[in-house]
Amino acid sequence: MTIETKMDLEGLVAVVTGAAQGLGLGIARELARRGAQVIVADIQLDKAEEACEQMRADRLAAHAAQLDITASAAVNSFFIGLDRLDILVNNAGTGQQVTPISELPDSEWHRVMDVTLTGAFYCCRAAAGIMERQESGAIVNISSINGQNPAALVAAYNVAKAGIISLTRTLALELAAYGVRVNAVCPGPVYTDFNKRNMAQRCESLGIDEDEMIERIRGAIPLGRWGEPEDIARGVAFLCSPEAGWMTGEVMRVSGGMEGVSATPPKRPKK
Ligand SMILES: NC(=O)c1ccc[n+]([C@@H]2O[C@H](COP(=O)([O-])OP(=O)(O)OC[C@H]3O[C@@H](n4cnc5c(N)ncnc54)[C@H](O)[C@@H]3O)[C@@H](O)[C@H]2O)c1
Repeated sequence: MTIETKMDLEGLVAVVTGAAQGLGLGIARELARRGAQVIVADIQLDKAEEACEQMRADRLAAHAAQLDITASAAVNSFFIGLDRLDILVNNAGTGQQVTPISELPDSEWHRVMDVTLTGAFYCCRAAAGIMERQESGAIVNISSINGQNPAALVAAYNVAKAGIISLTRTLALELAAYGVRVNAVCPGPVYTDFNKRNMAQRCESLGIDEDEMIERIRGAIPLGRWGEPEDIARGVAFLCSPEAGWMTGEVMRVSGGMEGVSATPPKRPKK
């Protein structure tokens, strides 16, 4: 099936965090294909620049910027430096070392929270100030199906993604009077670097190989296939576009129908 791209974001300035690769890159490309000028903001500057070069070669408007979303002051200066901001997609996030809560170290809890929840808060806070003054704008925060239905052994990640949903709904209420819309997307499984790392750890704990794991997940997705970055990107672009002009505080699952990963781990051998 060919999907026609609408030029419904023509001339808008969009920031996508964590866009040097994976879902963020897919989102950046989709927004740019619809006419937006996209700032690919990532902690990995070289990779962001490579991605932008490729996008420009494809006649898409893209600029790279180095941004560590966990650094509060750096986030503020980055947003202050923008001339305008029409769209923000808070996509950057990190996965968690697969570990039961009883053994989850403080450091791992804080590492995941800092990137996956607090970083999105810093970016939302900075963008909210700008969009409130402009009295226009759209923010899309990337949560996860784990934010609605937690998977075992990744508590910090689940909590961070549930937090993203609450942050989204709170900000939607606070910015509604200014005509600024704030929504969340909950992606299902897409085979990015992030997902590969997580799968590798789960394979090890279950004693199965990667192909079997990929097939198990595929079989649990009602539409019968893994997602592609473009699947998520189209959902995000819709929420950014005028077509979603009466949608705010919404949490939209883009997951082939999958609601969550519900497997219960077996008892562990006694130490
Ligand atoms: N892939 C999936 O199956 C899946 C499913 C649900 C939700 N998600 C979410 O989608 C988002 C993107 O995931 P992905 O699979 O593309 O991951 P990925 O690891 O492939 O990409 C993440 C990107 O974020 C960047 N990043 C990491 N820390 C950063 C920081 N402190 N500041 C700025 N950038 C930073 C990385 O450099 C990288 O480019 C994440 O929020 C993830 O939780 C992914």
